[in-house]
Amino acid sequence: MAIRNIVTEEDEILTKPCRKVERFDARLHTLIDDMKETLKAAEGAGLAAPQVGVLRQICIIDAVEGEEPLELINPEILSAQGAQADAEGCLSFPDQWALVERPTKVTVRAQDRFGNWFERTGEDLTARCFCHEIDHLHGVVFLSKAQRMLTQEELESGSYKEG
Ligand code: CO
Repeated sequence: MAIRNIVTEEDEILTKPCRKVERFDARLHTLIDDMKETLKAAEGAGLAAPQVGVLRQICIIDAVEGEEPLELINPEILSAQGAQADAEGCLSFPDQWALVERPTKVTVRAQDRFGNWFERTGEDLTARCFCHEIDHLHGVVFLSKAQRMLTQEELESGSYKEG
């Protein structure tokens, strides 16, 4: 496994749509393992393949405490309910935080690294991560959905949650 370089906001790869994964082979598995190691090293909640320079529909979600990161290949959102506005960031936009509204409960359908389809429902932070990472696969970054940017002070005090 290897840690890959995470591209940042000026890289136009972040605004391009990803192609579907068609081959569930050793090359894919190496990429996924590298993405997991990269995410762990960066201490993020999720990582999408375009963030490591690969325009394929692959993302990793690590939002559930004590659980192995979830691998989503060719994911799609089946249903979404509710709304939550909260602070959101992205490993490709270091030190930038924004208030973003997302659903509170999201069900996704995706393939695992062997091509088997599965469904998974996530709430709260996991639902937010599903939306954020799947957006990346369509060339959409979180800032385009931001209600407004948050300052470091607002982030630390949590004052944005009241108003
Ligand atoms: Co991101």
